[in-house]
Amino acid sequence: MIIDCDPGHDDALALLLGAGDPRLRLLGVTTVAGNQTLEKTTHNALKVLALAGVTGIPVAAGCDRPLVGELVVAANIHGVTGLDGPDVDVPVAEVAAVHAVELMRRLLADAAEPVTLIATGPLTNVALLLRRHPEVMPRIRRVVFMGGSTERGNTTPYGEFNIVTDPEAADIVLRSGLPTTMIGLNVTHQARATPEIIAEFRRMGSRLGAVCADLMTFFAGTYLREFGFPDPPVHDPVAVAAVIDASVVRTVAAPVAVELTGTHTRGATVVDLHHRTGRVANAVGVGLRVDSFWRLLMAAVRQLGGT
Ligand code: BDR
Ligand code: CA
Repeated sequence: MIIDCDPGHDDALALLLGAGDPRLRLLGVTTVAGNQTLEKTTHNALKVLALAGVTGIPVAAGCDRPLVGELVVAANIHGVTGLDGPDVDVPVAEVAAVHAVELMRRLLADAAEPVTLIATGPLTNVALLLRRHPEVMPRIRRVVFMGGSTERGNTTPYGEFNIVTDPEAADIVLRSGLPTTMIGLNVTHQARATPEIIAEFRRMGSRLGAVCADLMTFFAGTYLREFGFPDPPVHDPVAVAAVIDASVVRTVAAPVAVELTGTHTRGATVVDLHHRTGRVANAVGVGLRVDSFWRLLMAAVRQLGGT
């Protein structure tokens, strides 16, 4: 699989799960502007892989803004670096000399079998890939993305950050005809980094475990301030967990549309759970086996951290 991301605290954990779980083969990482500017999300992706000791995975930078409109970053949640919290520096690898869309195209073309795209940021790069290189679509097994919600939003009352940041991109992906799985806030809000979870990261005794604990401690602070949540929801690795083990996230078939206009609802995902519209269904996450999710994530971080 390929992970397209905008690290981001929870994107960092998604990368660790994707790189550390033995059942997955991470072919490449692509970055997009979202939680922070493209320059910062790209540096952060390289930093997370370096901290985890993961080498040889190409990382390419993609779009620096949404398809339409201006970028609004989430510094209120992820800080000025996009990955505030841990006080560690590490030498990072070079970013690939090609655009993210070109790296995805090449990886898809060269792969022996169809590849799963996991997107944990705005869907700008994925949409551009489908528009620019429709010939690669048969090479994509499915797109699993963190974004949207069957219920409320977090950036606007009904809009979730990744979709609100680039609604047109999400619309292109959801209407592409590819199998897509939406992992929305209705699921990810169940994956909370409680004090026990943070303590478990710290108890690993590895630098990577400590970094995860520091990331989640910072994230807890901003989520408490912004949303009043006692424990922060760790959205993005849930999308990776859904790919590793289908029993961790329960999905139903339901058509998903993206509100592109709307006086108050631009960027909202309109999920037709009762099949009223007759549109083609996508897969939509509706339930999470929370303990199994954390077991997968902890095992991956432990495996990468060496302790
Ligand atoms: C999503 O928005 C970002 O801030 C997170 O990284 C996650 O992908 C949650 O709405
Ligand atoms: Ca993200």
